Amino acid sequence: MDIKEQLEQIKKNALDMLNSDSDLESIRVKFLGKKGELTAVLRSMGQVSPEDRPLVGKHVNEVREAIEQAIENKKSSFMEKAMQAKLKAETIDVTEPGKKPEIGHRHPIAQTEEMLVDIFVGMGFSVVEGPEIEYDYYNFEALNLPKNHPARDTQDTFYITDNILLRSQTSPVQVRTMENTKPPIRIISPGRVYRADPADATHSPIFHQMEGLVVDKGITMGDLKGVLELFAKKVFGENTKIRFRPHHFPFTEPSAEVDVSCWECGGKGCRVCKGEGWVEILGAGMVHPFVLRNCGIDPDVYSGFAFGMGIERIALSRFGIDDLRLFYENDERFLKQF
Ligand code: PHE
Repeated sequence: MDIKEQLEQIKKNALDMLNSDSDLESIRVKFLGKKGELTAVLRSMGQVSPEDRPLVGKHVNEVREAIEQAIENKKSSFMEKAMQAKLKAETIDVTEPGKKPEIGHRHPIAQTEEMLVDIFVGMGFSVVEGPEIEYDYYNFEALNLPKNHPARDTQDTFYITDNILLRSQTSPVQVRTMENTKPPIRIISPGRVYRADPADATHSPIFHQMEGLVVDKGITMGDLKGVLELFAKKVFGENTKIRFRPHHFPFTEPSAEVDVSCWECGGKGCRVCKGEGWVEILGAGMVHPFVLRNCGIDPDVYSGFAFGMGIERIALSRFGIDDLRLFYENDERFLKQF
């Protein structure tokens, strides 16, 4: 084979290989590399007669350029293909309907608390919060519940030391407020409270209360009744009636338990009110003179009323739920219904 044919053969082999093999770099090395076939031909130029050398040299260059060009073309067609594939894989169909993110909502207890707060803020009350870890003094002593008072039994709680406990009611906020505010006082204090009660359908060691307190000159039980009646109508409907039953709380005198006419049967008696026609929803009374004096307010000048309710109890009635524990289990199937 003369050198011309040899060169043509190399070119043909290279182009054939490019058609069937995609490893461009090894093809380049095989034909154009330092130890490649074309370089070998160049090395054998010594055997070519001096007058033929320029022609052969030119031919070698043509073959080199042809192979280089073919490799380049192949490379850009690969890149083009890869780009097309990438574009296809990454296309966004802007006409496709979007995925809706799932948005949560307020817990039914929080919803109820907000509703209650709104009602009282609408009547001119302001919201005050207090610590959940409380001194015995604020939770009991200042509220006319000295150590060993039997009424402490109904509010047994968790003690951190002899004098520090988890508050069993939101009433300590009354004391804290009266200590550092001059009447007129008109506050509500929603928040978490604790009692050493085992959990059942109507009890939980953690629950929520909302307390109200009004202190001013000339405040009477009539004011208390008016406020609570308005509240009951807002929560349970326009036709709701309220009723006061005599009761005892150490920090109010007189004290009452307050019932609302049954929202389910309107008072005739049904399963919800257990045939009574009335449902108990809160405790209330006129602030005990002892408590006022304890907080630096002169009971001969000022009087006040207070009331306290369980937020869970209102939520149970509002949503028609019969087991308190459902509120704390964090079961989405339950929570999603409200
Ligand atoms: N704090 C009382 C309780 O938890 C409720 C209450 C508050 C009663 C204010 C009267 C006045 O039982």
